[in-house]
Amino acid sequence: MDKVVLAYSGGLDTSISINWMKEKYGVEVIAALVDVGQPDDLEEAHSRALAVGADKALVIDAKQEFVHDYILPAIAANLYYEKKYPLATALARPLIAKKLVETAQAEGAQAVAHGCTGKGNDQVRFDVGIRSLDPALNIIAPQREWNISREKAIEYAKENNIPITVTKKSPYSIDENIWGRSIECGVLEDPYQEPPEEIYSWTKIRKKPEQVQYMEIDFQQGVPTALDGAKMQAAEIISKVGAAAGAFGIGRVDMVENRLVGIKSREIYEAPAAAVLIEAHRELEALVLDRELCHYKYIQEEKMAELAYYGLWFTPLRKCLAAFFEQSQKYVTGRIRVKLEYQKCSVVGRKSPYSLYDIGLATYDQGDQFDPKHSESFIKLWGYTYELLGKKGRIDE
Ligand code: ARG
Repeated sequence: MDKVVLAYSGGLDTSISINWMKEKYGVEVIAALVDVGQPDDLEEAHSRALAVGADKALVIDAKQEFVHDYILPAIAANLYYEKKYPLATALARPLIAKKLVETAQAEGAQAVAHGCTGKGNDQVRFDVGIRSLDPALNIIAPQREWNISREKAIEYAKENNIPITVTKKSPYSIDENIWGRSIECGVLEDPYQEPPEEIYSWTKIRKKPEQVQYMEIDFQQGVPTALDGAKMQAAEIISKVGAAAGAFGIGRVDMVENRLVGIKSREIYEAPAAAVLIEAHRELEALVLDRELCHYKYIQEEKMAELAYYGLWFTPLRKCLAAFFEQSQKYVTGRIRVKLEYQKCSVVGRKSPYSLYDIGLATYDQGDQFDPKHSESFIKLWGYTYELLGKKGRIDE
């Protein structure tokens, strides 16, 4: 092993791990900064990687791929883990793993490294992703192996002349990308404590309680394609919807979740675009999909969310489910009207050329075409077995 590609974040931990890997394994380190829309200054992080000892540093723009191959399928599958977490962090991990593997192959490296601790889900997503994409690569996880405290890390940087600027560390651990922001640690570790307002960034409330805003979102085959009548790329819609909904404080999630590694953790999420787009998409599906597909799809959505959460992205089942979701979106085309108000988003209008809503059948007013006579025979057959069981005294109340 002489070359390692490290997923570099620019923070203290990944910065000192460059030196640590060089010392411990005698390797050359290539720092890879994968851009999935995190707000960091990547040019600055690039220079920092070199300043703290990386032999080479690369910025890899993966934003388009993230939207196209991960976020759009997440919208199609109305993806939430445990019905609440829109999986922003989880979805970015297989993509980062893929970029690390591609970089390692292009650079002739024999190992990849990441800064995950030994307690979270992300280590699983990275390791499983990397091992399935290239089983020949070694994986180094300095935080997991080294398990060093922040004080020790700063001391280590000083001793080894690693130029780090130690700022007052926020008590929170934050992960961010185009789809959402995840916040944990600090006071949030007490699940009875209300999260302080200071943790919020994307959903900082800038609207008054009496303010409202309407938005029209167009979908074509499950993909958002226009906002308020203006055609735009999905990435632009995500950012515009996120900014608008965030200002109302929409898209906050406070949850205790079941981690893959067996522990429960309390995490806060901000995902305003996900909250609005998934709600809008779900309502459009309610209009155009038949009942059996709707109900079956719910079950598969949960399965898909589990696969994403568990790091089982590059797997046969995920591929098969993706094909199912893709087919399910064939008629998910139409317009959804959304109302944004103080910490609340509701769908207030929907229309589609493929709508299965038939006013002639649904109305209780004049023009009703529904013939209730058919209902009687239908119900007779529908309940036939139970009538028989009743006759035989086999119904337990
Ligand atoms: N609990 C989330 C997950 O497993 C997010 C993990 C990262 N969170 C963080 N605040 N750094 O996907």
